[in-house]
Amino acid sequence: MIQTNNDNQRVVLITGGGQGIGRALVLHFLKLGYAVAAMEIDREANEELRTITRNQGVCLVLESDVSSESDISNAISQTIQVFRRLDAVIHNAAVTANQPVETLSLEAWNHVLAVNLTAGFLLAKHAAPHLRQSEGGGSMVLLASTRALMSEANTEAYSASKGGIVALTHALAVSLGPEIRVNCISPGWIETRDWQKASKATPPVHSEEDKSQHPVGRVGVPEDIARTAAFLIDPGSGFITGENVVVDGGMTKKMIYVE
Ligand SMILES: NC(=O)c1ccc[n+]([C@@H]2O[C@H](COP(=O)([O-])OP(=O)(O)OC[C@H]3O[C@@H](n4cnc5c(N)ncnc54)[C@H](O)[C@@H]3O)[C@@H](O)[C@H]2O)c1
Repeated sequence: MIQTNNDNQRVVLITGGGQGIGRALVLHFLKLGYAVAAMEIDREANEELRTITRNQGVCLVLESDVSSESDISNAISQTIQVFRRLDAVIHNAAVTANQPVETLSLEAWNHVLAVNLTAGFLLAKHAAPHLRQSEGGGSMVLLASTRALMSEANTEAYSASKGGIVALTHALAVSLGPEIRVNCISPGWIETRDWQKASKATPPVHSEEDKSQHPVGRVGVPEDIARTAAFLIDPGSGFITGENVVVDGGMTKKMIYVE
């Protein structure tokens, strides 16, 4: 039986909350006192999330697929049914299909776009009526990537989806303001190997080169993104909307000349 929130408790819906950055987002927002609804497709990750969050606060774990409009609308209805309000949405779930463009199937391309980009639109469509009611202003944060603006080879679907997120962010900010603010975060290299479900998790190892290519001297951790999302969602950030916040330890500011 899920505990319900109290009337003053703010509520955030987080997609892909079972593993990686999403798991850190769930735990961080619980620590801040939010009630959290987590949408996650992976059953094993959901079981672990239920266990991990049991004594951490109020967390509703919903097994659902963000590429399905009915799953998104059901998840939002269930969140409202249980918590009676929705103040913020974080679209974090994403997939990749990295392979040469000549062999990338249309089905694989469409799936990446559906999960990474179209779900952002569907979440806005179904959450907007509730976010508008939020005291202090509703807020959306979409996870983009530094790959929205630069690439390795064979990343067309993922890069295009993240470029789409940056554009969707400013479009939604203009359409949904002033009641709802919409921002995106572009993470750089964030280490998530130790934030995967137990059967997939491995201890991270970083070489000196891995660290030193970042002006801050280290690879990122999921909490770097969770803290940024919390900052953007806080009503105190009420003058920030339509923005793409790059959180990459300065990696994309470093000019590379091969000697
Ligand atoms: N880790 C990085 O270095 C990095 C860098 C740039 C951007 N990002 C972005 O940050 C976000 C999180 O990345 P991550 O590294 O933690 O990824 P991850 O793969 O570790 O976690 C993603 C989670 O989303 C879930 N998911 C996948 N498809 C889903 C669906 N259809 N419905 C519901 N849930 C689904 C997965 O099961 C998984 O738990 C993504 O948007 C990613 O593009 C990550």
